Amino acid sequence: MTFIDSVKQKARSSLKTIVLPEGDEPRTVRAAAKIRDEAIAVPVLLGQPDKIRAVAAEQGADIAGIALVDPATSPDAARYAAALYDLRKAKGLSEADAARLVADPMYFGVMMVKLGDADGLVSGAVHTTGDMLRPALQLIKTKPGMKVVSSSFLMDMPNKSIGHEGLLVYSDCVVNPCPTAEELAHIAVSAAETARVLCGIERPKVALLSFSTKGSAKHELVTKVQEATRIARELAPELELDGEMQFDAALIPAIGASKAPGSTVAGHANVFVFPDLQAGNIGYKITERLGGGTAFAVLQGLAKPCNDLSRGCSSDDIVATVALTAVQAQA
Ligand code: ACO
Repeated sequence: MTFIDSVKQKARSSLKTIVLPEGDEPRTVRAAAKIRDEAIAVPVLLGQPDKIRAVAAEQGADIAGIALVDPATSPDAARYAAALYDLRKAKGLSEADAARLVADPMYFGVMMVKLGDADGLVSGAVHTTGDMLRPALQLIKTKPGMKVVSSSFLMDMPNKSIGHEGLLVYSDCVVNPCPTAEELAHIAVSAAETARVLCGIERPKVALLSFSTKGSAKHELVTKVQEATRIARELAPELELDGEMQFDAALIPAIGASKAPGSTVAGHANVFVFPDLQAGNIGYKITERLGGGTAFAVLQGLAKPCNDLSRGCSSDDIVATVALTAVQAQA
């Protein structure tokens, strides 16, 4: 069974409701039909029902039985607007602005999740990452005790002898351009949680990456990763976590043993925490393009799961992201 098939199987074990704000987007409509057919989740499509039905007919997708909700006419809109106003009035949001915002499917969808009318949200086939992230960051907020929202890329590698049966968790590759040491520590703890929940890795081995291994180089950037390692250990003393280390020392047993003797993580890491967004984003793309890995992206650290798609995503990518979101919602 492939990694994503095992995620879908887990999603089926306890069905979650996942809202798709880009409800009239053709790939999303096809994905909703597949999600319903394969019983991966209960999809809700947002948008004008007539338009959604027209797209479905054009795409040859049977959407019978799938909930279609129009934010512009929904009886829930007033309740969502009132809750949105309450949440953001201290930030200067007026009641009129709140009513206007909930007519936007992104905000409406996020309010559905916030108020428990859906268990998770998947968007981004049309919206940019920033447009998708902002309402989730503003309204869903972080899990208790978690300082930042971040992301993990689950890299399913053709070589099953590396990482956890060929799975490598990379973090953060999407959200935080330049994390502080404290934020990096929180990202490390979040990534370990993602590894447990989505990859079934019971004992994640977390490496905080740098261009230095155990003091081999001296630089303020190295000091930041050392500090992040110290803070992460305080945050999660039970976690097998080590740093700073180079990627090869984290991945390859012989190099880990030689560069970081005595470390139980070096050479055996399955969770890789990059020092900043440039390194993480470049790292996952190199792994994908040169290493032949298949990447699955999720956000982590949010109080309730909301996930972003790439604008070049396929209908199958949307199905996969909905399955991942549903499993996050089960945790
Ligand atoms: N974690 C938790 N909360 C956050 C975070 C975070 N990482 N970042 C911002 N917030 C909160 C802020 O505290 C603020 O809350 P408040 O309004 O209640 O006070 C709210 O979110 C908005 O914050 P801003 O700083 O105004 O948000 P902004 O819109 O400027 O930026 C964003 C947030 C969109 C996440 C920004 O950090 C960003 O653009 N990151 C990079 C995204 C990106 O382009 N990634 C690469 C492409 S994706 C890919 O290649 C796969």
